Amino acid sequence: MSKNADAQRHAKLAEQIRAWDRAYYVEAAPVVSDREYDAAYHELLELEAKQPELRTPESPSQRVGGEPLSEFRQVRHAVPMMSLDNTYSQEELGKFVDRVAKVLPEDELVFTVEPKVDGVAVSVRYEDGRFVQGTTRGDGRTGDDITENLRTIRTLPLTLKKKVPLLEVRGEVYFPRAAFAKFNEARAAAGEELYANPRNTTAGSLKLLDSKLVAKRPLAIVLYGVGQFEGIEIATQHEWLETVKALGLPATERFWLTRNREELFAAVDELAEVRRDFPYETDGAVVKVDEWRWHEELGATSKAPRWAMAYKYEAEQAITVLENVTYQIGRTGVVTPVAELRPVALAGTTVKRATLHNFDEIKRLDARLGDHVLVEKAGEIIPKVLGVVMEERTGREKEIVPPTTHPDCPGELVWDGIFLRCPDLDSPTVIKRRLTHYAQRGAMDIQGLGESLVEQLVDAGLVRDLADLYELNVEQLSGLERMAEKSAQNVLEGLEASRGREVWRLVFGLGITHVGAGAARVLEAHFPSLDALAEADAATLEAIDDIGGIMAASIVEFFQDEANRKLLARLKEAGLNFQAPERPVAAAGGPLEGKTLVITGAHSRPREELAETIRAAGGKVASSVSKKTDYLLAGEKAGSKLKKAQDLGIEVIDEKGLEKLVAA
Ligand code: IVH
Repeated sequence: MSKNADAQRHAKLAEQIRAWDRAYYVEAAPVVSDREYDAAYHELLELEAKQPELRTPESPSQRVGGEPLSEFRQVRHAVPMMSLDNTYSQEELGKFVDRVAKVLPEDELVFTVEPKVDGVAVSVRYEDGRFVQGTTRGDGRTGDDITENLRTIRTLPLTLKKKVPLLEVRGEVYFPRAAFAKFNEARAAAGEELYANPRNTTAGSLKLLDSKLVAKRPLAIVLYGVGQFEGIEIATQHEWLETVKALGLPATERFWLTRNREELFAAVDELAEVRRDFPYETDGAVVKVDEWRWHEELGATSKAPRWAMAYKYEAEQAITVLENVTYQIGRTGVVTPVAELRPVALAGTTVKRATLHNFDEIKRLDARLGDHVLVEKAGEIIPKVLGVVMEERTGREKEIVPPTTHPDCPGELVWDGIFLRCPDLDSPTVIKRRLTHYAQRGAMDIQGLGESLVEQLVDAGLVRDLADLYELNVEQLSGLERMAEKSAQNVLEGLEASRGREVWRLVFGLGITHVGAGAARVLEAHFPSLDALAEADAATLEAIDDIGGIMAASIVEFFQDEANRKLLARLKEAGLNFQAPERPVAAAGGPLEGKTLVITGAHSRPREELAETIRAAGGKVASSVSKKTDYLLAGEKAGSKLKKAQDLGIEVIDEKGLEKLVAA
């Protein structure tokens, strides 16, 4: 190849690799095989070996780190990196808004609400669209030049989508949550000491003088803040955030533009929920006056601006002592280890217990009795043990030994892969769990049939399986403790109502291993009746999008079981609804015939209903975006699928767009 042809080929490969890197590191949705990637990367290195001038700082080959430094150069920030005032109280946040309202007219109280990312603050600088410098915050005026370390971060583009003359953006480097767990696992396997938390590990990584070592850590970056810039016209914070994104930089997952106090507080509350799905840790919301022209007027103290405020969410993680492990038998007989903790205050409640999931998890955590453990509580979710604080180990901690028996299980417990199981599915505890699962709100929703009544019914020998419920009468029920005739009547009415429930509720309520409520809805949409589902073979089930091999096998096993077949026959006898709702048959020649759609994000109607509409018009619904996708039906909060569809040039539609297509 001629020099020129080499350069062209190099440019092409570099562009391709950048796109793949973006799909892999930023969107977590790889688009090529490792093999194909490696081949392209190898070819790129060969071209650079032949022609070293191709090895520019923007080449993907430069992500691997350069020569070690003896110390970091100091860089003075053109615009200081300030900190934020913060508060834990919504009342204080309201007072901040009041202070702002003294300067701004009430009807111009427009704020952005952004996640407060709990990473390590940095500033990155692009000149003529090329990444030229990255610095730490330092004391806010002067920081360390960590350009070479930042260059190794795959989610940081080395070139911008547009050649802006000068752009400095502030943000946070972080260790993606999932990657951190894996990273520690690998260290454990190698017999190395584990890292306590992602933030400190990130800070330590950025301080390494050898960027080759930094390149080995899967750090990521997210950018939101304003530094020096030239050659672009921006007047508001929300435009800034949109520009950051449009230039191809990794922006925060979400931000809100709020027009009054009510919207502002609603955004702060919504962020408190959705932040759990972000790949980085967040510890609050940052509220900023949107219009920059007010910033000058509001001014700043020596440390923090008066136009912004951080509202911090209460800590949802705490460290406490693992005092004991007890064991709970679930509806499928699986024995779950439960951590009994020294009580600790967490996000407004006292936490005493947390799930340990299974014995693999105990091994992964290397948890021992007496350990100091990090626990997390996220909203309504059961608290979870995240890790062990190894620095607190004394050597007197005791190993957790899996039990061989359980007081609620006759006979020995048996191993089933990583799970310990009570093989006797007719033991009273397992029966009780099955019944409570069946009656719960998300399943058959049986009024009045809660845990304590289930307990009594089983202990009194009145109910042994789901079908027995429908043979209960008033006398039996009112004979139970705290059961007047009135409440007995209510329970019977609840049971009566459950006979007519949608079939997906019954499918979910049966407690088939791996079949959650979502999968049950999918099944309902694919089979005319429960009888038809019961006859389906694994291949038929697996052909359904969203039903994988493991779930298919579990469904087949459930319906082949003789006892389950008898149970089903009795439930049918009892008058339960086995029929799926009538629906139009996928019309051949329908407006969506031959088209494949993918649904993502939040919509005004349940996903399965939208899928039905598509199928009724002759279309197919797939679960992942590929070149074969014709349309992406994207709702609010659409994430990686939307990005992928945009990259592949696939048409993106909303619910209105779907209506139009179907009506065509
Ligand atoms: S704005 C002049 N926005 O929190 C305004 N900071 O506690 C300066 N941080 O130094 C900061 N997420 O490192 C801003 N969305 C966000 C942020 C954020 C995290 C960090 C930042 C700042 C520190 C203050």
